[in-house]
Amino acid sequence: MRTLGIAVYPGDGIGPEVTDEAVRILQAVSKQDGSFALNLTVLPWGFSYWEQHGHVVPKDFIDVLRPFDAILLGAVGWPEKLPDHITLAPLVEIRQTFDQYACVRPAKLLPGVKSVLADKGPQHIDFVVIRENSEGEYVNIGGRFKQGQAGEVAVQTASHTRRGVERILRYGFAMAQRRRRHLTMITKSNAQRFSYVMWDEIFEELAPEFPDVEVDRQHCDAAVMNMVRRPEHFDVIVASNLFGDLLTDLGGIIGGGLGLAPSTNTNPDRTAPSMFEPVHGSAPDIAGQGVANPIAAILSAAMMLDHLELNDAAERIRRAVERTMASGSHTIDLGGALTTREAASAVLEHVESGV
Ligand code: NAI
Ligand code: MG
Repeated sequence: MRTLGIAVYPGDGIGPEVTDEAVRILQAVSKQDGSFALNLTVLPWGFSYWEQHGHVVPKDFIDVLRPFDAILLGAVGWPEKLPDHITLAPLVEIRQTFDQYACVRPAKLLPGVKSVLADKGPQHIDFVVIRENSEGEYVNIGGRFKQGQAGEVAVQTASHTRRGVERILRYGFAMAQRRRRHLTMITKSNAQRFSYVMWDEIFEELAPEFPDVEVDRQHCDAAVMNMVRRPEHFDVIVASNLFGDLLTDLGGIIGGGLGLAPSTNTNPDRTAPSMFEPVHGSAPDIAGQGVANPIAAILSAAMMLDHLELNDAAERIRRAVERTMASGSHTIDLGGALTTREAASAVLEHVESGV
């Protein structure tokens, strides 16, 4: 039997609460599936680690993570106690060092869940945002001059490479071929004349290789409006690191809520582990209350199984989530009354009933 070595990094706030439930579902599916076992290593990193050691992860964290088959992350961040750029820095480093260049974030409104958009149902909201995850606006290039003085200057440079743009666009085209064969590239090339104009050019070069995929290009400002007024237009979206980040909070909320939105940080070449996490953060406003929605974490675990080529097991989880949503077993963010544990238990029942 295949044994999966999984690094579990629950993190801060609601991270541990939702990760516990995702692990519970994974264990049930592993038992039921019979073709894989789990070897879980829980890494107690984050704010509490910082309190003890003065840093949020150990210095050799990249080496610690490298041997695993995959990383399951909850969420990190405790902004009242520690600035976000410190807590979140290791995440960006993991994504970049492990070349997890494709961040895949589906926004799919499930039957039984109401969208914040009036008159839009599951038939209107089913798209995937692919966010370039390894470069762009999130490279750590820049500096501050005359820090703290009146004449202070901050420079932060984005870096877009032909290789990086080409590979994420190819990933998007391939995904579109497996879905409804429509791809939208979102940039801001009317204002950012170097980087996004290069994105435009590469897009035009690649599109003829995929004649079966219908394409369009939108500027990010127009795109956010269109995602609200005509979400049914979108199938696969490809965007830069920053725009993809912004668009997927929007995708999350119109797809039913952040509590439902899963995410991957995929290294498609499999030269290093990929990482799976909800789109949402550590939600300090509800942390410790046991009311966070565990579905985003559970669906992220399903995406991890997909990446590990355990598609039947992944599908089993998704079916169980769909049934749970359709039956109205909802947490507070969806207008229900279930706790984190109760909602996950409802999913677990559907997993175990095995239909
Ligand atoms: P957030 O996603 O944590 O929360 C935004 C809102 O959505 C809050 O009202 C929260 O209660 C609600 N929410 C989020 N997840 C939910 C869930 N599972 N169930 C029910 N409600 C949920 O974003 P926010 O407040 O901007 O950031 C909080 C912290 O998380 C910050 O430190 C931020 O930097 C960090 N963060 C970390 C991420 C990560 O670990 N990858 C991603 C995004 C933010
Ligand atoms: Mg984000």
